[in-house]
Amino acid sequence: MHEKANSNMNLLDQAIEDARARYIAANPKSEVADNSAGAHMPGGNTRAVLHYDPYPLTMVAGEGAELVDVDGHRYVDFVGEFSAGLFGHSEEKIKRAVHEALDSGIVMGAPTRYERELAALLCTRFPSIDQVRFCNSGTEANLMALSAARALTGRDRILVFREAYHGGVIKFPAGGQMLNVPHDFLLADYNDTEGTADLIRRTGDELAAVIVEPILGAGGNIPGSGEFMEMLRYETEKTGALLIFDEVKTSRIGPAGMQGELGIKPDLTTVGKFIGGGLPTGAFGGSAEIMSRFNPKQPGFWNHAGTFNNNACSMAAGSVAMGQIFTPQRAMEFLVSSEAFRVSLNQMFAALAVPMYCNGMGSIFAVHFTHKPIEKATDISAGNRSLRPLLHMEMLLDGLLLCNRGDLFLSLPMTSAHFSSVRVGLEKFIDRHKPLIEQVLQVSHR
Ligand SMILES: Cc1ncc(COP(=O)(O)O)c(C=O)c1O
Repeated sequence: MHEKANSNMNLLDQAIEDARARYIAANPKSEVADNSAGAHMPGGNTRAVLHYDPYPLTMVAGEGAELVDVDGHRYVDFVGEFSAGLFGHSEEKIKRAVHEALDSGIVMGAPTRYERELAALLCTRFPSIDQVRFCNSGTEANLMALSAARALTGRDRILVFREAYHGGVIKFPAGGQMLNVPHDFLLADYNDTEGTADLIRRTGDELAAVIVEPILGAGGNIPGSGEFMEMLRYETEKTGALLIFDEVKTSRIGPAGMQGELGIKPDLTTVGKFIGGGLPTGAFGGSAEIMSRFNPKQPGFWNHAGTFNNNACSMAAGSVAMGQIFTPQRAMEFLVSSEAFRVSLNQMFAALAVPMYCNGMGSIFAVHFTHKPIEKATDISAGNRSLRPLLHMEMLLDGLLLCNRGDLFLSLPMTSAHFSSVRVGLEKFIDRHKPLIEQVLQVSHR
C-alpha cells in the first residue's frame, strides 16, 4: 500500500514538474526579472504570499479585471489583490479621485475632507461602527483593536483561532509563526462551538478579547456557522471580553459585511483592503463609548498616531469607492451574482463527479479538492493541499490568475466572459487531471 501511495505522489510531482517546465518556457522575462530582484530583496520578494515556484510572474499593466505580464501574456485576474482589488485595475472614478487629491496637495499634514467623508460612509454602513479611526493596513487595524481591548478591559489574554490570519504579525498557521507580536494568545478551533465556549468560560476574567474572521480566509475560506458566531457574542458578553470581528476581507460581503449578514454586533470591527478603493488603508471602529477613548480633546486620551493614517490619496479613493461605486445596493447585487457563480461551479464539479468544491461565500472562495464543504480547518486533507500547485500552474498557463493556495476573489469589472473563462479552464483541468486527483485523494485518506 505504501508503494502505491508513493507512486501516486510521484505522478503528482511529475505533473507539477511538467506544468512548471511549460511555465518556464513561456515566461523567460519574468524569470530574468525575478533573478535580478534577488540581488536587493530576499528571494526577490517583499511579500511572501506572492511567491510561488519556480518564480512569480512580473506584471506590467492592468485594465478592468485583466492583467498583462512582462512576457506579454494577458490574464483574467482572480487573485484580485486578495480582495483589495474589488474595483479592478482602471476604475475611472477612482483614478480621477486620486488625481484630484494629488492636485490639492500631496502631504498636507492636517485633517482633510477626504477622511471625514470616508469615516461617515463606514459609520453609516456597518452596524457596529459608531466611530472609526484610520490606519495604514488591516494588520495595523487589528493591532490597534487588540491593544485597545487590553487597555479597555485591563486583561491580557486574547483568544484566536488556528489557521486564522489577522496580519503579518498576527497569524496562526499549523507550523507556528516566528514573527508574531508577543500577546498572550490562546488557540481554539474555528467552528468548534462547544470547545471554544468552554475555553472562554475557563479563561473567565483573564480574557481581554476574542478576535475572529467571520470567514476563516487564509485558512481555506471557511464560513463561521451562525451557531458558532452567536456563541462568541454570547460568551464574550457574559465574561466581559471584547468581541472583535476582523472584516478586513469580509466587509465586502453584502451591504454591511458579515456582521450584517449574521445579524451580530461585535464590540470592535476592523476593515481594510478594498475600502481604500485599492489604495493602502485600514480602519478600526466600534461604539461611541469605546472610541471616545481616542478623543484628543479629552484628558488622558489614548494617543493613536500614524503619519499616513489620513493619506489623502487613499481617503479620496476610498470615499469615491464606497460612496459612489460599491454602494449598499451594488454590494447586495454583487453578493447575489457572485454567490450564484460559486454555486454554479459546485454544480459543475458535481456533474463531472470530480472531488472539487468552491468553499466560501459570494465573491470570496477557494477551490478545494474534496467532495463536500469544508467546515473546519482540520477537514483540509494533505492530498487537498498537495494538489494546489498543479491547479495554480495549469490555470496560469491557461491565462487565469488564481491565488497559489486556490482562492478566487471576484471583482466588479468582471463580465460573463470572465466567468466563462474560469469555468472552461477548470473543465480543461478536470479533463486532463481527474484520474490523478482521485488517486491523490485516495492516498491522503488512507
Ligand atoms: C482577514 C485579514 N485580516 C487582516 C489582514 C491584514 O491586512 P493587510 O495586509 O492590509 O495588513 C488580512 C490580509 O490579507 C486579512 O485577510
